[in-house]
Amino acid sequence: MKKWMIAAVLSGLWCISDAQTKKPAAGSSAARGKKVYEQYCLTCHQVDGSGVPRMNPPLIKTSYVLGEKSTLIQVVLKGLEASVPIDDEYYSNNMPPHDFLKDQEIADVLTYIRSNFGNKASAVTAAEVKAERAKK
Ligand code: HEC
Repeated sequence: MKKWMIAAVLSGLWCISDAQTKKPAAGSSAARGKKVYEQYCLTCHQVDGSGVPRMNPPLIKTSYVLGEKSTLIQVVLKGLEASVPIDDEYYSNNMPPHDFLKDQEIADVLTYIRSNFGNKASAVTAAEVKAERAKK
């Protein structure tokens, strides 16, 4: 094995252990949620949750992210029309529905965003997502 390959593997391992030790509070749900976020939300809301001005809203201390969990879960399940203002700002994109995600995946990604990007709010559970999904 070449030297640079060993270095790459070692730094990869270091990253993994670093990610695991950083967030003890919300624990593994937030860690799993980060992966869901990277796959399904990052392209629009950006890696640091800052969004794209006038297109995609930030997820940093917004009334949706920190507010009622039921509203927040519904946004992910059903999406949101561009005509709905977010903290008095309008965004030209629509938020697409993400009801194809599993209850646990939605709980994890919401736990992740509520405990990152400067947000400090309680975790969301799969049971809460299940209850929202059952509503029409
Ligand atoms: C195609 C781009 C896109 C993707 C993908 C996307 N969103 Fe959004 N999201 C938006 C837009 C645009 C809005 C605002 C819609 C409006 O103007 O009413 C929004 C609104 C929101 C809001 C409420 C407003 C706020 O900023 O607090 C939350 C929370 C949210 N998205 C979370 C997520 C999560 C979690 C995911 C991944 C599961 C995700 N979004 C995926 C574009 C996207």
